[in-house]
Amino acid sequence: MSETKPTTFIIFGASGDLTARKLIPALFNSYCKQRLPENFNIVGFARRPWDDAELRQVLKEGIQELAPDTYNEEQWAPFAQKISYAKGDLTTLEDFENLKDHLEKIENGSGNRLYYLAVAPRFFVPIVENLGAADMVDQNGGWRRVVVEKPFGHDLASAQALNKAIQAVFEEDQIYRIDHYLGKETAQNILYFRFANTIFEPVWNRNYVDNVQITVTESVDVGHRAGYYEEAGVVRDMFQNHLMQLLSLVAMEPPASFEANAVRNEKAKLFHAIRPLPLDQTVRAQYEGYLQTEEVAHGSQTPTYAAMELFIDNWRWQGVPFYLRSGKALTSKNTEIIVEFKQPPHLMFDDIKDEDFSANSLSMCIQPDEGIHLKLEAKIPDSHKTQPVEMEFHYRSSFKGNHLPDAYERLLLDAVRGDASLFTRADGIEAAWRLMDPVIYGWENDPYGPPMASYKHGSWGPEEAHALLNRSGRVWRHACSHPEE
Ligand code: BG6
Repeated sequence: MSETKPTTFIIFGASGDLTARKLIPALFNSYCKQRLPENFNIVGFARRPWDDAELRQVLKEGIQELAPDTYNEEQWAPFAQKISYAKGDLTTLEDFENLKDHLEKIENGSGNRLYYLAVAPRFFVPIVENLGAADMVDQNGGWRRVVVEKPFGHDLASAQALNKAIQAVFEEDQIYRIDHYLGKETAQNILYFRFANTIFEPVWNRNYVDNVQITVTESVDVGHRAGYYEEAGVVRDMFQNHLMQLLSLVAMEPPASFEANAVRNEKAKLFHAIRPLPLDQTVRAQYEGYLQTEEVAHGSQTPTYAAMELFIDNWRWQGVPFYLRSGKALTSKNTEIIVEFKQPPHLMFDDIKDEDFSANSLSMCIQPDEGIHLKLEAKIPDSHKTQPVEMEFHYRSSFKGNHLPDAYERLLLDAVRGDASLFTRADGIEAAWRLMDPVIYGWENDPYGPPMASYKHGSWGPEEAHALLNRSGRVWRHACSHPEE
């Protein structure tokens, strides 16, 4: 990246898990690929009584342990020279003034700054306010951008309050709200798949599509994150952000360009077209054993799994159900989107009964085994019957040698470039909360809402989620498009 001014990454929460696990490996990888601005610096801000050498040592140990494939000794030494430490408290204005002096020394006149909030959400507002009060947002000396991690609010009201507080200090085009699912190569490929090919978009609508399924399963349980998870639950943790973003990529109208606001306008339009969800189109569940986890409240009603059927009231999708599901402690880690097409209008083959025949479907495997499968019916040789077969594209074979970068690598570079197309905008975040709030609060308060179902560790989820589809004669699909049970 050629940029004469120095660019500084300021990481609030430099001693935290996200910095060690994601940010430093992403920055280091970009450095090794020579994609960072030529003149860059990294400043870690935290409360620990460290100096530059100690921060460098901690980050080195972190990358060696957490991202060993990324680490290499020769490149680390010059990279580490770019890292410095500023000790401070996130809520103390004076410490921000000291940070400002530290930055001005590094910049030696002027420079660009990316403020990264890798901290617990309760610190988002104090940091932003202190940046404003310390006069660190003014863009005369170079651009100033702020990257905000999730969770972005706890519900609609808190997300609106957070947007307001950040927008009181930064302009919307300086704010980069991260959803790391948008940084995944395969999620980005959804738009390329739809809009860089001619043959799919004409059938991408209610005339040809029977239903769409978005599955994000995880095999891990809440583990040591129960403290956070108890407050969040699966809808806040996964649906309001990641699943809604995947849905928007699959269902939005074509933007006129790949420019950030063109893309985000279409997403916002889509979210506004989603019909509010009645509770009887939702399923909530907890895995067996969740209640025995340390830090989980006695009798907790926090869902670790949810499934939903939703409809989009627009011309393209009228009447097409979209099924979303996600949960912890399930059979495997798997994120995929399945577009199931309608049956042909007339079956002329006498030997094939309707029930032997499966409709075409397209599976976009976001992770793992990244790729795309198109399921077709083919005649079985020497028989009059058909069998489903698959046309497959896999990243690992089609792009041999092209390692799939971590989402943070792409997102950090985009923020430096000033490209916000893979970041969420205030209205998109709020629209997603507007849909999820009634589900979350309905589950908590409506006596007629769905009861908490339960499922076994390592299963595909609760029976009730299957029943949600079975009532319209459908079943959940997965990569090879077999019914699951
Ligand atoms: C995070 C959630 O946003 O996404 C976690 O807080 C979840 O609970 C994670 O495990 C899943 O991300 P990925 O990239 O591993 O699918």
